Amino acid sequence: MDTPAHDVAWRLDERTLGAQASAADKLRFALRYAVLAPSSHNTQPWRFIVDGETVTLNADRLRALPVADPYDRELIMSCGAALFNLRVALSHFGLAYAITLFPSSADPDMLAQLRIVSGGHVDTSLSPLFEAIVERVTTRLPFSDVPIADDVRERLARAGQAEGVEIACVHADNERARLAEWIAEADRRQFDDPRFRRELAGWIHSSRRDDGMPAYAEGVSALLDFATPLVTLAIRTFDIGHGVAAAHQALASGSPLLVCIATNADDAPAWLAAGQALERLLLTGVGEGLTASYLNQPIEVEALRERLRATIKIDGEPQLLLRMGHGPRVAHAPRRPIEDVVS
Ligand SMILES: Cc1cc2nc3c(=O)[nH]c(=O)nc-3n(C[C@H](O)[C@H](O)[C@H](O)COP(=O)(O)O)c2cc1C
Repeated sequence: MDTPAHDVAWRLDERTLGAQASAADKLRFALRYAVLAPSSHNTQPWRFIVDGETVTLNADRLRALPVADPYDRELIMSCGAALFNLRVALSHFGLAYAITLFPSSADPDMLAQLRIVSGGHVDTSLSPLFEAIVERVTTRLPFSDVPIADDVRERLARAGQAEGVEIACVHADNERARLAEWIAEADRRQFDDPRFRRELAGWIHSSRRDDGMPAYAEGVSALLDFATPLVTLAIRTFDIGHGVAAAHQALASGSPLLVCIATNADDAPAWLAAGQALERLLLTGVGEGLTASYLNQPIEVEALRERLRATIKIDGEPQLLLRMGHGPRVAHAPRRPIEDVVS
């Protein structure tokens, strides 16, 4: 599918860098790849402050989702995904870097500081993932039921584990069906809350904006069971949780693979690691011809999180639940202008 003209953020051509580009130029250019990372509700809750060959990644908590994500867990995971893209792009450009996580004890919004290390060791394990950054897209439509081979599952798990998290791959029919029940249960609870519905509606836009989820994007309106452009009105007004629950249950049980990302701790460093692991897993999946979408509801609903952990038999704290498989190609979601997020 061609990229629509307005999705300029996705039409990147590294040749514009030129042979004489300095490390600082490459760092600025690499940030264009960082912002292509997924983020909850496409809030893009990040800010990058560049100073020569150093960049600081800050959480933009004005873009938080206080109902769905009261502790900014997913917000920080989104920033982690952006940091991972930055690492991949820099590695592809042949640059080594050093990262200090949470460099300021006074400022918890300062998540990471990355400094280019001239002549340092380039992480060549990351550069093969570069092409996948512009290919990756969240696909909310049904996947084919073609199973995912054991060796592919292992590569996906290893990709996440390389970022220090626990990965559980769930592919057995009965286990997927069980998880699909928790997902539906969580949907019903979330949509029962008018504050949740209002917050979601605030990030589904019926006309094109540079953030949020376009109501006309494949899978967004279909899942919510309403035709656009009435979708946001419908979410604000009615309890549509049962329709959403049924749709998500079918998507979950019909996808060949569910993947849970879990961490030892449940704090900001763990969430940042989970976000980097998420993007590493997703980009690795793209290389295998796979796409993904999110079914985090049983993690967002605290009461179901423990049940999920017991069902999947993981040791750590569940952070994200994805479904993966072979899906139809869908259009990219928009991105904010780079000048709005990089200074
Ligand atoms: C931490 C995190 C949580 C997310 N949770 C959901 C979710 O619960 N449901 C969903 O449909 N998409 C979810 N997404 C996907 C975003 O909506 C998606 O990344 C965003 O709309 C941008 O689209 P793109 O991934 O195609 O670039 C999540 C993404 C991240 C990073």
